[in-house]
Amino acid sequence: MKTQVAIIGGGPSGLLLSQLLHTRGIDSVVLERKTKDYVLGRIRAGVLEQGLVALMEKAGCADRLHAEGIPHEGTWISYGDEMFRVDFTEHTGKLVMVYGQTELTSDLYKAREESGGKFEFNVEDVAIHSADTDAPHIDYIVAGEARRLDCDFIAGCDGFHGVSRQSIPLDVRKEYEKVYPFGWLGVLSETPPVNHELIYANSPRGFALCSMRNENLSRYYIQCSLSDKPDDWTDEAFWQELKRRIPVYQAETLVMGPSIEKSIAPLRSFVTEPMRWGNLFLCGDAAHIVPPTGAKGLNTAASDVNYLFDGLCDFYENASTDGIDTYSEKALARVWKAERFSWWFSSLMHTYPNQSEFDLKMQVAEIEYLRSCTSAQRSMAENYVGLPY
Ligand code: APR
Ligand code: PHB
Repeated sequence: MKTQVAIIGGGPSGLLLSQLLHTRGIDSVVLERKTKDYVLGRIRAGVLEQGLVALMEKAGCADRLHAEGIPHEGTWISYGDEMFRVDFTEHTGKLVMVYGQTELTSDLYKAREESGGKFEFNVEDVAIHSADTDAPHIDYIVAGEARRLDCDFIAGCDGFHGVSRQSIPLDVRKEYEKVYPFGWLGVLSETPPVNHELIYANSPRGFALCSMRNENLSRYYIQCSLSDKPDDWTDEAFWQELKRRIPVYQAETLVMGPSIEKSIAPLRSFVTEPMRWGNLFLCGDAAHIVPPTGAKGLNTAASDVNYLFDGLCDFYENASTDGIDTYSEKALARVWKAERFSWWFSSLMHTYPNQSEFDLKMQVAEIEYLRSCTSAQRSMAENYVGLPY
């Protein structure tokens, strides 16, 4: 089989790129290790920057997002029983859209299916060859049968555990990583959200986040130990712990219900440089991971896709390599800023093991600064709604 752009990974990065390329008549094939249902079963954050919303519009996939997404013009930060609001719209003129990543991925699959998108699911043993030449190809196996995909370019959209990053020689690639000493225990429940905006809570018992998917579907998280297992936490224990970490008057109005999903995610900051090797380009989680505080994962993946899409259009439509030649540099410049924001916001909101009294005072001073200082709020708002592409 032959295509112009071979896309490894059918998560949001790969699908968005494939659909955008389709709008410009550029052919692609998506190779996905799992099934579509498996991909759509993964629960991830659900806060979209306007840049991502604009890309979904460009891809012709934004109708449901506009109908069902919930615009948020601000967020709440709580510390003990104090709570203050950071107003995105007042400070930046922008807002974010609350819409689950699962829904967005499902919209992209639907659009790709309706536009004749080419997929291979359940692919095994994907191996990238000759990525540093003008004639790369990918070998893989489906249902025991060996197949080959020839292409001009390879987009490595295969997440943190994919093969694309690993295919870049070690002497070319440099990785930067920070692993945090705690995880997030997340619960999805068919209950109305406790607040119509998100609450990021710093409490002496650890971080908590009150988020949502719609008016009858809430997503809550509490900071937990890395050794915890979801089954260690009964629903009752989860709700009681969440209530202790948010302001009393929010805890009093919290509607509890059975969890319909419960999972623990570790927190990590990770970047690999460069994001291009020859004709292989890394996008999204394949190249970088952020801790979920601030919901930058999907949004950073989207900005990579934006730069790569522009570069590929420039190549096919104008015979110019300028866009693809500057891809890694442009993508990384924005990635590092999102890494900084997620790291800062995580550091601000979590309880760290062996945190000294001085460090605790610094955290309180930083939160107090954010509460009382307009320019600090503006800076947070600018980053939260998303820095320009
Ligand atoms: N071959 C083919 N597909 C692969 C391979 C492989 N060797 N390895 C991984 N994949 C697939 C995974 O099964 C997954 O469906 O690549 C896809 C990668 O999807 P994501 O991990 O969702 O990554 P990405 O599309 O970059 O999306 C970034 O999703 O992971 C969240 O927090 C992240 O919100 C961010 C967004
Ligand atoms: C979520 O709704 O899952 C969510 C929202 C905001 C975050 C992280 C996760 O910062």
